[in-house]
Amino acid sequence: MSDEIKKGLVGVVSDETKVSEVMPEINSLTYRGYAVQELCAKCNFEQVAYLLLHGELPNPDELKAFEEYERTNRNISDTLKNTIKNYPNNAHPMDTTRTTVSHMGLEDPDTEDNSPESNMRKSMRLLAQISTAVAANFRIRKGQEIINPDLSLSFSENFFHMSFGKVPSPEVVKAFDVSMILYAEHSFNASTFTSRVITSSLSDMHGAVVGGIASLKGPLHGGANEAVAHMLNEVGSADKAEEFILNKIKNKELIMGFGHRVYRDGDSRVPTMTEYYYKTAEFYQNKELPKISKILENTMLREKKIKPNLDFPAGPAYQLMGFDIDFFTPIFVVSRITGWCAHIMEQLSSNKLIRPLSKYAGSPHRKIN
Ligand code: ACO
Repeated sequence: MSDEIKKGLVGVVSDETKVSEVMPEINSLTYRGYAVQELCAKCNFEQVAYLLLHGELPNPDELKAFEEYERTNRNISDTLKNTIKNYPNNAHPMDTTRTTVSHMGLEDPDTEDNSPESNMRKSMRLLAQISTAVAANFRIRKGQEIINPDLSLSFSENFFHMSFGKVPSPEVVKAFDVSMILYAEHSFNASTFTSRVITSSLSDMHGAVVGGIASLKGPLHGGANEAVAHMLNEVGSADKAEEFILNKIKNKELIMGFGHRVYRDGDSRVPTMTEYYYKTAEFYQNKELPKISKILENTMLREKKIKPNLDFPAGPAYQLMGFDIDFFTPIFVVSRITGWCAHIMEQLSSNKLIRPLSKYAGSPHRKIN
């Protein structure tokens, strides 16, 4: 057995997955074999959620049944609504979202049942209810009333309805739906791996998702979309963008929204999300934000040869849509719940306790004097 340390598990292949892969031959992230760009062009988020959870794209009847199940499970309990109302107002929405999923586990009739049928039901309920809970939290924090889900609306339309009381134009809804598709899954990233580690001890699905949320919160992972929006706001105007980034580079600071462990030559999701970010900016007649983004991107490429990741275009797109910055990562959760649940079920289907070794570097054996 090799005792070579692979810090951060860089380059370590720890298991197989059939959920997603970055396919070198097309240099793209694929879900169950389909390139994400094609899924964004031809499918909506519900179809992609079905694909991730079931392994195949739905036929029209399967999609109808899936949508009906998702829509009729959107309501959250009054107890959970009260819990959300009682969260401290200064708590970070990722922390409240984590607590919300923990609460859902307390209420779910299937929590202790890890059978495939039960886990599929729980995945659907989590998908249907997490957006209701995040939108409720978003409104309560602003001192507004919770808006109940509208079962006649699509997943993305309904999220806008519950957040703002209205559904924006189809272009904006499509941009949001594309972000949902692109954020849904990315193989053994930190949060998914966390969920799989928790699952591997035969713990329950809600607990595994709670762990995934805690991992996603970090600025090196999902929290980067919030950091990108803060950075763009700090830059303020395009004429200050180049100097801003050069200073950060000079000070050897980490620049959020750039770099990726898996992609060394650019995140394959970025061109699609950037296209929809620019379309959203055009819709809201905001010329400055894309200008700042382009300067930051070009300067990073010229000076550091590092390209942006998905958080770089997604953060400002969410800001343009009117979401508060600290809700960007909970929005990521609303989408990634599908990937986590697919991985939790896959882990259980061929489980082995995940328990790596460590190399001891502490004090030699000693005795208490
Ligand atoms: N800003 C400045 N320098 C960077 C950045 C960055 N964003 N990303 C990588 N580098 C530099 C590193 O400092 C390192 O330089 P060095 O060799 O001189 O020390 C070199 O590029 C290689 O980077 P690593 O740290 O080895 O890359 P790693 O795979 O460990 O990290 C990570 C990947 C964590 C995403 C990193 O690029 C980063 O911190 N980026 C900023 C946070 C971010 O945007 N996270 C979102 C990830 S995507 C997602 O979750 C949807």
